[in-house]
Amino acid sequence: MSPSPQVSAARPELSDPAVSAAQRRSWLGLAGRTVVVTGAASGIGLAIATELAAAGTRVALLDRQAEAVAAVAEGLAATGAQVLAQACDIADEAAVLAAAEAVRRQLGPVWGLVNNAGLLRPGALQDVSLAEWNQVLAINLTGALLCARAFGADMLAAGSGAIVHIASISALHPQTRSGAYSPSKAGVLLLNRQLAAEWGPRGVRSNAICPGMIRTALSARFYEQPGFEAARAAVTASRRIGEPIDIAEPALFLLSDRAAYVNGSELVVDGGLDCMWMDMLPRPGFNQTASASAGAAATQD
Ligand SMILES: NC(=O)c1ccc[n+]([C@@H]2O[C@H](COP(=O)([O-])OP(=O)(O)OC[C@H]3O[C@@H](n4cnc5c(N)ncnc54)[C@H](O)[C@@H]3O)[C@@H](O)[C@H]2O)c1
Repeated sequence: MSPSPQVSAARPELSDPAVSAAQRRSWLGLAGRTVVVTGAASGIGLAIATELAAAGTRVALLDRQAEAVAAVAEGLAATGAQVLAQACDIADEAAVLAAAEAVRRQLGPVWGLVNNAGLLRPGALQDVSLAEWNQVLAINLTGALLCARAFGADMLAAGSGAIVHIASISALHPQTRSGAYSPSKAGVLLLNRQLAAEWGPRGVRSNAICPGMIRTALSARFYEQPGFEAARAAVTASRRIGEPIDIAEPALFLLSDRAAYVNGSELVVDGGLDCMWMDMLPRPGFNQTASASAGAAATQD
């Protein structure tokens, strides 16, 4: 996958023809390992699967969108990658167990897992239907546990493996009118720590990434409104919206042995948005908009 124009501008080294994709990723040592990525048909999961394939990893791509995930796998296989597409609803335990069996049979024992599949169903707490509340928890939280158990079995048997959960900054800060999303992602962070505590002694690490605002199908409609992206960029320290590759690269690092002593941690990847809360407070004599567009630090109270 070639980087988008936004990322090319921010990260010119990603499109340097003198440095091949394989060279850039060889230090990770992920070649030849089997890693499962859930929600791999789109957005962040697609970028993680693509980066893993480029690193020489055997990648099992799971998604409930059967045709889309098959098309992605076909594209990656055409580049010489060893990949397998599995249509699977991660909230369905029988389907997850069947997928684990198929991956084991076709790609060998699973060494790593990226728990990425998730969804957002907006709604104020007073109004959100119980069906939607349960659906979000079933996919975002229970699905992560089901996948950890089904795919982690091989890791525990081998005494070696790594799991990365894609949580959200919404796990750390409540996002109003987002239904069960924030609670589900907060649950993922505790699931992450509990897995680290229970499985760390058995050689399996578990870590979480909390992405900020990333441009994917899940968030695309936010950016359709004129001026919206610029407004969001203006309140972000790095002054841009994130792209899926901004999450994929830290995910590969956390999976790899380069992060061998990183366990039970939460990595916020949000372009510094979390550092900006104090700047959002109205302050007398301080022109926030001018400061944001000039990138200047606050100097007046
Ligand atoms: N985009 C953002 O700004 C953002 C920010 C923070 C966290 N996240 C998290 O990142 C993860 C990926 O989101 P994205 O933005 O790439 O979204 P996306 O909608 O582009 O991709 C999500 C993928 O998950 C799949 N999926 C959903 N439910 C599934 C299920 N039950 N079983 C199997 N597959 C399922 C979808 O079919 C889709 O392919 C999610 O967990 C999301 O909560 C995204």
